[in-house]
Amino acid sequence: MKERLWIAEMLRGQKKHISFHTPGHKRAGADITELDYSDCLLSPRGVLKAAQEDVARILGAARSFILTDGSTSGVFSMLYCLKTAGKASVAAPVFSHPSVRNACNVFGLKWIPVPQKTRFGIPLQPTSADVARALDSADALLLTSPDYYGNFPDLAGAAALCKAQNKPLVIDGAHGGHLHFVPERYAGSYADLWVDGVHKSLPALTQGAVVSAKSEPWAGPLESAVKLFRTSSPSYPIMASVEYAVKYPRNVALENAAERFKTQYGCVNNGDWTKLLVPFGGQCGAAQAYSEGHGVYPEFNDGNYLLFYLSPCTTARELKTLGKLLKKMPRGEVGEDAPAGSIPMYGEER
Ligand SMILES: Cc1ncc(COP(=O)(O)O)c(C=O)c1O
Repeated sequence: MKERLWIAEMLRGQKKHISFHTPGHKRAGADITELDYSDCLLSPRGVLKAAQEDVARILGAARSFILTDGSTSGVFSMLYCLKTAGKASVAAPVFSHPSVRNACNVFGLKWIPVPQKTRFGIPLQPTSADVARALDSADALLLTSPDYYGNFPDLAGAAALCKAQNKPLVIDGAHGGHLHFVPERYAGSYADLWVDGVHKSLPALTQGAVVSAKSEPWAGPLESAVKLFRTSSPSYPIMASVEYAVKYPRNVALENAAERFKTQYGCVNNGDWTKLLVPFGGQCGAAQAYSEGHGVYPEFNDGNYLLFYLSPCTTARELKTLGKLLKKMPRGEVGEDAPAGSIPMYGEER
């Protein structure tokens, strides 16, 4: 039997192509529109349907939907599902991504805040007791896992709590697309609905994401929701890259090297190998300038820490270069009153 074509193979397979269609650059190549051979994301029947089915199987979902508008459109789709299922309120941590607050406002969902403490300016994941207290007066729970700093909430505890109360669990996994290899860490092992921000930690183009439903009862509503919140002109390069990224093999050697690196260079002991959080305290700005002066760019500077974000495509050589630079970069004490860095803290003005 013939193997399924990946989206990228379908794009590569088209030889003669004179474009009398959008987009206006007329260069065809991979950046085409929905044509008879390229399928249609709104009602897929061909290569996009096959890709979404493969993605769902890999992620352990009943249905998965490729998004070309980032995790933001996934968060909107999931919260809209809650609304259409008759939920009136959702408990969510106070430092959730702004898309959570925006979606709640747009849909008239009441946000029940789950308090979060901070340590050296870093939001800590909420305690199980705080989650339970907030969920008592909410119809659903949204957690972020992992967060931007690589920390995880008590996923098993939250799932058990939601199950006991028959309330849906939704997970914003914008920073956890690489975790489907690790069931105990993966959002899809616990959530009814979850989004994977594939473009952040897997080799997908910016804005590539996937939103998934664990079981059939949520799959139909999610399908209706994504139709409302994603573009009607999805980018084929992004869709091809999402399929490629989800099918990208695990890089265990790099994962182990990253964990050793954390110990060797005094990174914060978070649970996520892709997020190397290095403390610089008051020297953060100088360290960032030194690093960037050598062509090495971190993800962010929060005034206390620099975050160096890895993916399975980071090479051992790049990690070694970072290690060499770190040895020479000035370090200071981290403090609670860090000057504002380049990352705005979600949930509060800095
Ligand atoms: C926790 C979290 N959720 C959602 C998003 C939104 O993701 P995207 O930029 O892919 O729309 C982000 C973006 O940084 C994020 O950090």
